[in-house]
This record gives sequence, C-alpha cells and structure tokens, in this order.
Amino acid sequence: MAGLFISFEGPDGAGKTTAIKSLAEKISQADSRHVMITREPGGSRIAEKIRQIILDAENVEMDDWTEALLYAASRRQHLVEVIQPALAANQIVLCDRYVDSSIAYQGGGRQLGPQKVADLNNFAIQGVLPELTLYFDLPVEVGLKRIKKIGAGFDRLEGQALAFHERVRQTYLQQLKNNTTRIKSVDATQAPDVIVDQCFELIQPFLTED
Ligand SMILES: Nc1ncnc2c1ncn2[C@@H]1O[C@H](COP(=O)(O)OP(=O)(O)OP(=O)(O)O)[C@@H](O)[C@H]1O
Ligand SMILES: [Mg+2]
Repeated sequence: MAGLFISFEGPDGAGKTTAIKSLAEKISQADSRHVMITREPGGSRIAEKIRQIILDAENVEMDDWTEALLYAASRRQHLVEVIQPALAANQIVLCDRYVDSSIAYQGGGRQLGPQKVADLNNFAIQGVLPELTLYFDLPVEVGLKRIKKIGAGFDRLEGQALAFHERVRQTYLQQLKNNTTRIKSVDATQAPDVIVDQCFELIQPFLTED
C-alpha cells in the first residue's frame, strides 16, 4: 500500500497530541505527501456512534469483552473509512492511538489478556498495522499529575486506579519488547521540543525525498 501509517501510543497525559501537532508541521516540510492527523473515531459517523455506546455513563452493565469488541468495531470502521483511503491517496497518516491502546488498556488494564485482545483486534484490522509506532513512555504518576487526576496522596480507590495504569504501562512495555521493529519508545518525561526532535529522527527513515 502507498502512503505511510504512523501511530502514537502511551498513557493519558504523555504528550501525544501535543507532539503530533508539531510533528505534522515538521513532516510536511520534509515530505511532499499530505499529512493527515486522525484519532479514533476520526469523524466516521458509524465509528462515533459505536464509541458513544462505550462511553455512555448509563451503560454500567457493559461487559468488559463487549467493550473490547466495540472498540475493535469502531477501530475497523475508522480504518476502512478514514485511514485506508488516506493511505491509498499516498498520504502520511498520524494516528493518535490505535490497536496497541486496546492491548494495553483492555488486555492489561482490564486484565482480559493482551494476546486475546490482540487476536480480537487482528480480526478487526486484518493485519493493517502502522509501519511505525511511537510509544511515549512515562511513569504512571507523572502522566496522572499532568492531567491533574491525582493530588498530593493516594487513597485506596486512587491506589486501584494507579494499579490499573501500572498494568497498562507494563503491557505497553511488553508490546515494545515483542515488536522491536515496529514500536520505538520515546522518554515522555523530556521537554516537548526534545520529544518532537526524537520522534522526527525515528520518522525520517520513512520519509521520501521530493
Ligand atoms: N513533554 C511534556 N512535558 C510536560 N508537559 C507536557 C508535555 N507534553 C505535554 N504536556 C502537557 O501535558 C498535558 C497532556 O498532554 P497531551 O494532551 O498532549 O497528552 P496525550 O498523550 O495526548 O493525552 P491523552 O491520551 O489523554 O489524549 C497537557 O496539559 C500538555 O500541555
Ligand atoms: Mg491526546
């Protein structure tokens, strides 16, 4: 397939969205292909409707596997409707979260099992993986502080949230170990401009000279 597919992964508050904006500009200056920024559901009407079901606070009885299946369904619709047409048009697609998020959050965080969630998603995406995935690694506490979800101390409930996020991070790190060619790690505790420079260096080999 033509085009270039890059995904960005890591916890809430890692700085993915911040970095992607600057990266899009840098990439545009270096490569004549159109750069598209997207994130699920990516403006797909159907994918959006599926996510509304997942995020609806009234759906308290939702089973964890139902949640994982709905995420996979929404992802597939976004892939088919948004990502693949852009790649077919030889565009560079910067996708804010993709399949590794489900593996980390549903597989690790919710403890459904990373491999089972990967298998489920493989069915949904039919092997369409990014050429490059940039994983923004960050200690859990730092990420939560950035998005102001924690204050000075942790009570029992916050401690549980912390354990959830720690499982997410460990699952990401295992994914990184299992996919050393596709996934590259970036230290997300660094300053934004340093992160952007490191990301760009990792992206550069995939860019084409005009
Ligand atoms: N390198 C950085 N150092 C310190 N703060 C940062 C850095 N990058 C981003 N921030 C700040 O951290 C917060 C979260 O950043 P951002 O929204 O880019 O994270 P994210 O990875 O996209 O999170 P989410 O997954 O929740 O969308 C923002 O307030 C942003 O200004
Ligand atoms: Mg973001």
